[in-house]
Amino acid sequence: MAEFDKQRALEIFSGTGQQINFRPIEDVDLELIAKWRNDAETAKYFFSTVPDDIDNQRKWFSEAAADPDQINLLVLDDKHIPLGMIALVDIAKDLNSAELGRFLVGESRARNTGLGQAALNKFLVLVFTELGVKELRAYVHTWNQRAIHVYEKVGFRPQPAERPLSSVNKSSITMMLLKRDQFINKAHLTR
Ligand SMILES: CC(C)(COP(=O)(O)OP(=O)(O)OC[C@H]1O[C@@H](n2cnc3c(N)ncnc32)[C@H](O)[C@@H]1OP(=O)(O)O)[C@@H](O)C(=O)NCCC(=O)NCCS
Repeated sequence: MAEFDKQRALEIFSGTGQQINFRPIEDVDLELIAKWRNDAETAKYFFSTVPDDIDNQRKWFSEAAADPDQINLLVLDDKHIPLGMIALVDIAKDLNSAELGRFLVGESRARNTGLGQAALNKFLVLVFTELGVKELRAYVHTWNQRAIHVYEKVGFRPQPAERPLSSVNKSSITMMLLKRDQFINKAHLTR
């Protein structure tokens, strides 16, 4: 049975020369990520209550980079300009499950242009077919209808059970699930 190997996973997600590309987040990206996450237009969608200033960003990243069970990626366009980020966290060693997280189209000009769906679709192809994850979950503020819509379009389905209330604004959080077979059967296999 295949086991999760972080180094191999980072290689899988480091393709180049396509319309949408990914690469592992590095220290030099943290200023940009802090800027994205502090934008009032995007900050409200996250669960974190800690200000994403550069110091917190560095602290977060040193822990995230050392965590063997997560990969954090930059989303880049065809010219390798960073437009957003996406992560796979809590990756089970046996690859039975993982969580999609930190999904953000950080550049406002790129939001609502189809980039999020295209990046997510490509990410899921790699997650399910190259990495071999069997089931993916995602947690979304129930009022974040844009993200829920995008997740549903690629096949995620909301689950009845909800996480404890968010400490940010006491709104509820929707858990969504997508199984590999469901995704592959929906033939989202464009790259
Ligand atoms: C969620 C996010 C990643 C999606 O990326 P994007 O590039 O903006 O999304 P796309 O342009 O690919 O698709 C947006 C879709 O949502 C729809 N949409 C836009 N606003 C909406 C709303 N208020 N309610 C429902 N659907 C909405 C659009 O019509 C489009 O759907 P369509 O293609 O069927 O017409 C991006 O908007 C983002 O970074 N948001 C802030 C952070 C966030 O919410 N992250 C997810 C946290 S779990």
